[in-house]
Amino acid sequence: MAGWQVRDYSVDDLEAVVRVEAESGTSDASPLFRLSDAVAALQSLDPAVVAIADEVMVGAAVSRVEGDKAWILRICMLPSWRGQGLGSALLSALERRLFDDGVRTVYAVLPGDETGAVALRNRGFATRSGLVFFEKHASVTPQAISLLTAIGAELPAKGLWSRVAGMEREKRFIERRLVLPLAHPELAAQHGVELPRAVMLFGPPGTGKSTFAHAVAGRLGWPFLELFPARLAAEYGLATGLSRRFDEIARLEHVLVFIDEVEEVAGERSGADATAVGVVNELLKAIVRFRARDGRLLVCATNSVTTLDSAFLRHGRFDYVVPIGPPDREARAALWESYLARSGAEADVAALAAASEGFTPADIAHAARTVSQAMFEQSYDTGTRVEPTTADYLEAIRCTQATVSSAMAEEFAHQTENFARL
Ligand SMILES: Nc1ncnc2c1ncn2[C@@H]1O[C@H](COP(=O)(O)OP(=O)(O)OP(=O)(O)O)[C@@H](O)[C@H]1O
Ligand SMILES: [Mg+2]
Repeated sequence: MAGWQVRDYSVDDLEAVVRVEAESGTSDASPLFRLSDAVAALQSLDPAVVAIADEVMVGAAVSRVEGDKAWILRICMLPSWRGQGLGSALLSALERRLFDDGVRTVYAVLPGDETGAVALRNRGFATRSGLVFFEKHASVTPQAISLLTAIGAELPAKGLWSRVAGMEREKRFIERRLVLPLAHPELAAQHGVELPRAVMLFGPPGTGKSTFAHAVAGRLGWPFLELFPARLAAEYGLATGLSRRFDEIARLEHVLVFIDEVEEVAGERSGADATAVGVVNELLKAIVRFRARDGRLLVCATNSVTTLDSAFLRHGRFDYVVPIGPPDREARAALWESYLARSGAEADVAALAAASEGFTPADIAHAARTVSQAMFEQSYDTGTRVEPTTADYLEAIRCTQATVSSAMAEEFAHQTENFARL
């Protein structure tokens, strides 16, 4: 006589089923249905049966019903009970439940060498060959979306990247070193390329650091989550806030985390008070934990790379330290072209690019907006559409203070020499 009894699953069995499941596997291949799927089916009381021997659970079979079809999500048993017909007994009891409930067809998909495959054959399940199993993972699952909204993440638009004008050198670097490996992790692994986990962008204000961070998330189709240290500090105290937020982030499958003005949390520790030291340590620890998982990228940005705590920039934390400088003449021309195109204007782009030395993308945006506004007002006042001339743009350039003075440009070049890690 068999040394077990098979009975229906009841709510108190959940933990025991999970324990048996954990010991049961005989295949390295990952199963079609994840453990979370099986647990969800158990919680919604889809048909499942368990085997008990000496008051201990030794096996279980779990199903999910969809109309008149059912999927077997798990057949599992403790290793010492293999090869004694337990799998067949579980299946037979589960089938009876399913067919009694009106199910007409039962499906199971298993790695060929997994526990349960023999039992399925013994129970007369036919195998189908010639089918190919396709799968594709959405980068964001519906459950993740509610978590995302709860913690303030957003899904950036796909087209952002193509709207980043000029900045070809920076774009190319970011595309090659960050976006491509993260978008093609298998190919990267084949070549021994380690995936980037964290990157520091530095440069003068308005050069496009935040823009790049958004655009990268858009390219990857990953949610974008900006951490605001000041808000975390107000809510929980900065160190606790950071550690909590990073715990939440660990539950997301994919995410790009952005911390702007990171020098405010990761400033030089020497001479700082104990709280500041605690914060830098907490952030360093969070980065180490963050780095341990795939599917995520931390982007930090700063205007003052020189004031960052040196531990912060040491190898092993940030894979790259990337200067995002003021645009050169070519990049300024590209920026001007994109702004002109947006307002349907024509002007001598080369002249504008030459006149706007030291301008950041933000400065160029400002000058272009000034002209657009003036033209709009004139069109309104005169009742006919007024077109801007090159002279109008040059005048707007003259009235705009360049963010990057020549002294700043020199300092930035110096910082690039000392800090960039590409
Ligand atoms: N390459 C670009 N093409 C088009 N617009 C850009 C580009 N770079 C930046 N901009 C625009 O310039 C403005 C400033 O850019 P952004 O906020 O990304 O700069 P930043 O480096 O993050 O500045 P800060 O250091 O002040 O945070 C934004 O309005 C952005 O849309
Ligand atoms: Mg910014």
